[in-house]
Amino acid sequence: MIPPTFIDELLARTDIVEIIEARVALKKTGQNYSGLCPFHQEKSPSFSVSQEKQFYYCFGCQASGSALKFLMEYDRMDFLSAVESLANRLGLAVPNDASSRDREALEQRKLIFETLTNAKDFYKQQLRSNPQRGRAVDYLKRRGLTGEVANRFEIGFAPPGWQNLLALEPESSSYLSRLVNAGLVVTQDDEDKRYDRFRDRVMFPIRDLRGRTIAFGGRVIGDDKPKYLNSPETAVFHKGRELYGLFEARRSQKKLSRLLVVEGYMDVVALAQNQIEFAVATLGTATSDEHIQRMFRQVSEIIFCFDGDAAGRRAAWKALLTVLPHLSDGRSARFMFLPDGDDPDSLVRRIGQAAFLEQLAASHSVADWLFEKLAQDLKENGLDPTGIAGKAALSKEAMPLINLMPEGVFRQLMIDALSQNTGLSTQRLRDVTVKYDSSLESVADDVQPGYDDAPSGAENARAPEPMRPGRLDSALSLLILQPELALEFEVEAFECLTRGDQDQMLRTIALGVHAGTLSAPGEILAKFSGKPEQDFLKKAFEYKPLLGREHLKDEFIGLMKSKFNRYNQQEGRAQIDALLQKPPSQLSEAERGLIRQYFSKSQADNDPSLIP
Ligand code: UTP
Ligand code: MN
Repeated sequence: MIPPTFIDELLARTDIVEIIEARVALKKTGQNYSGLCPFHQEKSPSFSVSQEKQFYYCFGCQASGSALKFLMEYDRMDFLSAVESLANRLGLAVPNDASSRDREALEQRKLIFETLTNAKDFYKQQLRSNPQRGRAVDYLKRRGLTGEVANRFEIGFAPPGWQNLLALEPESSSYLSRLVNAGLVVTQDDEDKRYDRFRDRVMFPIRDLRGRTIAFGGRVIGDDKPKYLNSPETAVFHKGRELYGLFEARRSQKKLSRLLVVEGYMDVVALAQNQIEFAVATLGTATSDEHIQRMFRQVSEIIFCFDGDAAGRRAAWKALLTVLPHLSDGRSARFMFLPDGDDPDSLVRRIGQAAFLEQLAASHSVADWLFEKLAQDLKENGLDPTGIAGKAALSKEAMPLINLMPEGVFRQLMIDALSQNTGLSTQRLRDVTVKYDSSLESVADDVQPGYDDAPSGAENARAPEPMRPGRLDSALSLLILQPELALEFEVEAFECLTRGDQDQMLRTIALGVHAGTLSAPGEILAKFSGKPEQDFLKKAFEYKPLLGREHLKDEFIGLMKSKFNRYNQQEGRAQIDALLQKPPSQLSEAERGLIRQYFSKSQADNDPSLIP
């Protein structure tokens, strides 16, 4: 819509320090400016602004970007408004080849946001001052909420009556249409009837990641139906995408590492009331792909919370199927089942925060839940999951599911676990998948009686998988572009990089840099000239860094940390591998514990925010 050259010019003529200084107290510290980060709560400054690079970066929450991004995040502007605001300062007109329809849509959205914010403020105000507020206040108190938490979630009260919002500007037809577009007023076309959608309800504003109110959920105070009324889909609200409480969760914690997915508004709020501030709720829908993507952008672990009944287990299975394709290495999911008759709200109020967190920690890992559920299904179908036919059926059911996962260590671990459960070699399991629709018997034929006691030696000693050719390792590319990056890590760190051609090349270069024999890209070229590695070198020089040249270092550090993490994980895995080769009957309780722990190990300590 706006020509990129204009954005470039805008940024070139804007001083980011001026922009930020007007909003955040900054102190000059060496080359840069620093202050308290406006994007998370902190006591000592980790927010840094570089005048030279025209870039801000927070070492605490990793918020970063240009002056434009800052305005968007800090002033909660959309892109266009941020551009306009910068242009106004410089007295420039924004060139605009947007069609008038786009502009209208944008304008429309802006008005809806405004209308929703006003309504939110109105409902909050009513909770404080409406003559009938007592019932709403009592209700919230009865549910154990303090004013502090109600405030944090900006809970409000839509008073009884049909025209409360409408009466605020009774003569304005544009106001009426804004209310309708925002989903706050219902009209019945023919009859020219119009009335407030939310009446006599406790109001939960639903906010987007920037904190803008995009919709509401309203709960009846008594026993009327429906219990919850939600905003309809509007230009700014798409139900299947949003997560209630995500904004609040992100704002409340220094470093959010996991999210707990619950069902209801009250669950999120009651958990927050009990200092569990990382819960989010889907809005009466199942967890969607988009929800999961959204969550994994914020955290590396998602815990799903379900009722312990049959419906809960069905929902948990669906969640597993939805999350599997997103489980790349470094991410994890868990499944928590609530005691009969409880929801998170009632449970946390009954047993308290500490016990709730204990139950959460004891929740099922992906492997636990997948194998438990499949074994259960088999039993229900009259198959013994420990018998030969049962094991064959288990493989046949499990492999296609495991193959939903992205390639990586985590997926391999699942295959290994299945192999251990069934006694089929991992190679054989891969064949099972290829022949997914082949008959169950053909698999069963291959399961030799007595296999449990005689794992095949040849398979145990299988060679490591060859590197997949083609994709160029980003860390390697960065190192070639700027060899001195190797000095960001101790030389020992690189010595472990021995798996795969690219890692070995990375190691050679890094060691050379540390030893002082390699210091410029040219020297690297010379060193590998005429060797097979040259192809990588050529590609590396075309590599476009993710964060822009001035941030090669941050990008490199992040990539290497994740690489080292993967190596560490694989060390752990080698140990587990050895255990998995043992016949299950010969495993000690401690060894079993080790395997369980490994499979359920949280990946939260792999700092995903450092991995671009
Ligand atoms: P629940 O009935 O479990 O609600 O519905 P809850 O949060 O435990 O309600 P309380 O504790 O009685 O206040 C879970 C979610 O399903 C959606 C809402 O998003 C609710 O939070 N829902 C439920 C509706 O949209 N409409 C309804 O009538 C009921
Ligand atoms: Mn409830």
